[in-house]
Amino acid sequence: MLKRVIYSVCIAVIVGVGLFSFYAWQPAFTPIAPPAKDQFTQQTIAQGKKLAAAGYCSTCHTLPGGKLYAGNYQMHTAFGVIYSSNITPDVNTGIGSWSEEAFNRAMRTGVSRDGHHLLPAFPFEHFNKLTDSDIKAIYAYIMTSIPAVEQLKKENGIPFPLNLRFLQAGWKLLFADTSRFSPHQDKSAEWNRGAYLAEGVAHCGACHTPRNALGGELYSKMYQGAAIDGWIAPALTSSSSSPLPWRQIDFYEYLRSGNSPFHGSAAGPMAPVVHHGLAALSDSDITSISVYFADHAGNVTDDPAASDTLQIALKTQHKIPDMRIDEGSRLYTITCSACHYSGDPLIKGRPLLSLGSATHLDDATNLINVILDGVRSDQGISSLVMPGFRNALSDNDIAAIAAYLRQSAGEQPWPNLIKKVGEIRHQPRFEQ
Ligand code: HEC
Ligand code: HEC
Ligand code: HEC
Repeated sequence: MLKRVIYSVCIAVIVGVGLFSFYAWQPAFTPIAPPAKDQFTQQTIAQGKKLAAAGYCSTCHTLPGGKLYAGNYQMHTAFGVIYSSNITPDVNTGIGSWSEEAFNRAMRTGVSRDGHHLLPAFPFEHFNKLTDSDIKAIYAYIMTSIPAVEQLKKENGIPFPLNLRFLQAGWKLLFADTSRFSPHQDKSAEWNRGAYLAEGVAHCGACHTPRNALGGELYSKMYQGAAIDGWIAPALTSSSSSPLPWRQIDFYEYLRSGNSPFHGSAAGPMAPVVHHGLAALSDSDITSISVYFADHAGNVTDDPAASDTLQIALKTQHKIPDMRIDEGSRLYTITCSACHYSGDPLIKGRPLLSLGSATHLDDATNLINVILDGVRSDQGISSLVMPGFRNALSDNDIAAIAAYLRQSAGEQPWPNLIKKVGEIRHQPRFEQ
């Protein structure tokens, strides 16, 4: 009897593995000679250039200081280091021999030309929302306008068995959203344009949507905030911890300029989103994205100047803190207040820290990052710099300032701050 059970289980496993391998197997597309430039119209190539920018292809596919799109940019994930591919039109090491069909399959389903499965660090699930003509445009731009660079992709540092690429087929089956974009009939054309860009090429959810233990986006918690690359990508929904609700105009201002006087600056991984990605889109596209997110955030149309929160914030900031109260208020006054004490949030570049998301998030990470490394000129508002205090302030000092700001913003204290500052100070820094 036992033998028969073992026998049946073995058969079931073999059949299962066989069926799965069959399911996971993807054909290779025949290599082609790189397409000629005149195969595409100038308009298609220009559209591809815009979309490639909006999809931050260069942020992930270019090493800082390296050749455009030549890959080997390191992504540090919970599963190990992943290196991006060379997507220049080099025939041997890039995608020079890829047909449009092969490129389309990779962008939609995360399968390489030779049939191997790609890891979801490449946000193909979002690119799958693009129309065929938009994918064609990106292909046309890369194949005709990016110089070919010979550079082999480094091996990913993913441990066995997660490095078995065919297992990705199972991941995709379980977690990937394979649906194409279809307009929501009950929403405006503007909203739908915003949704198409945000869910698709700009893949906002890849950072702002929490993931499960295996890295799958939790679609039921879309845009509810997540940790990413040593930062917190805050919730963009009504569960935002901001004391002032995000309105359409706030989203617009933040996404267009890199700063909202009522919410803060786009630093860390959000900086290239604004300055490389969204910068390529027209004002009307940014308006559409803002309309879409204002709806997610509850579409509040209040004038914040009239809101109680703003009045309270203004009052708090108008007073110079009593330096004798504690070390935190003393350090804040001498180190930060010269720049953060205008008392008027409408003066750009003098952010009111009592309003900014960095002080209101449940997690102190973003505030600590900004105090350590400041806001570079290519982050936040272009050319406006906040200096970093990595070398000037100790862990205790930074924790004391953070605790003071947290308390004066009327929030519960953050636990274990000194330890947290130490951990963040020593974590490896990656160029954004
Ligand atoms: C968040 C980072 C990220 C972004 C943004 C990104 N990619 Fe990638 N891409 C990757 C990584 C990582 C890989 C390799 C994955 C692996 O090793 O399985 C990859 C692989 C690819 C491949 C497969 C190459 C091959 O040889 O198999 C193509 C094609 C590609 N990306 C195109 C693009 C395009 C076009 C864009 C912009 C529209 C883009 N990627 C944006 C991270 C990214
Ligand atoms: C690569 C990851 C990443 C992507 C992609 C991304 N974000 Fe962000 N986003 C972040 C991080 C990290 C922050 C926090 C930045 C800071 O505080 O300086 C942030 C901050 C924001 C904020 C400010 C929130 C607050 O409460 O302060 C908004 C609004 C925002 N992102 C919108 C978007 C939109 C819209 C998109 C898509 C067009 C997008 N993000 C794509 C990582 C990302
Ligand atoms: C020399 C002026 C200056 C000093 C000193 C300064 N800041 Fe800033 N800070 C700025 C400017 C300017 C910005 C906005 C940068 C931008 O958007 O480009 C900023 C932005 C910020 C932000 C918003 C970042 C975000 O991601 O939302 C925080 C938080 C912050 N500062 C905290 C502090 C703290 C805490 C101190 C003291 C330890 C301090 N700053 C000292 C000028 C300064």
